[in-house]
Amino acid sequence: MAGSISILSDATKADQYRSLLPQIESLIGGELDLIANLANVAAVLKEVFGFLWVGFYLMKEGELVLGPFQGPPACTRIAVGRGVCGAAAERMEALVVPDVVAFPGHIACNSLSRSEIVVPMIYGDHVVGVLDVDSEELSHFDAVDSEWLG
Ligand code: SME
Repeated sequence: MAGSISILSDATKADQYRSLLPQIESLIGGELDLIANLANVAAVLKEVFGFLWVGFYLMKEGELVLGPFQGPPACTRIAVGRGVCGAAAERMEALVVPDVVAFPGHIACNSLSRSEIVVPMIYGDHVVGVLDVDSEELSHFDAVDSEWLG
């Protein structure tokens, strides 16, 4: 049921993700609408981990277009190859960026964002979108986030 996600705050990050996964599956499992489900996934990740921004960009006519998100307003369109989102989509691989200032071409939608992870959503051999998570802390994301968000 929506609103009843429970996670132990003193568990390790991997344990938090491990416990969250079945809860997310049960939250979205009975619903076929993509936007509704992505909106709930963004809400859960923001609620549990307190990230600055969590959201999806969806591939539309060859461009990444802002989809469901939680956090401050964001850029609406990102070309493939541009910024972290566009690079992850182009390379079809997750990118962990410890310091966004050091990433060439990073798109600064929010000046508070210091580090981020972008995970491409791949269907068949196509990128259909990306999950983008931003943090106010430098080096916030690591291989654990990459494994569980991927
Ligand atoms: N940081 C992204 C842009 C999107 S926002 O952070 C929401 C990037 O460089 O691709």
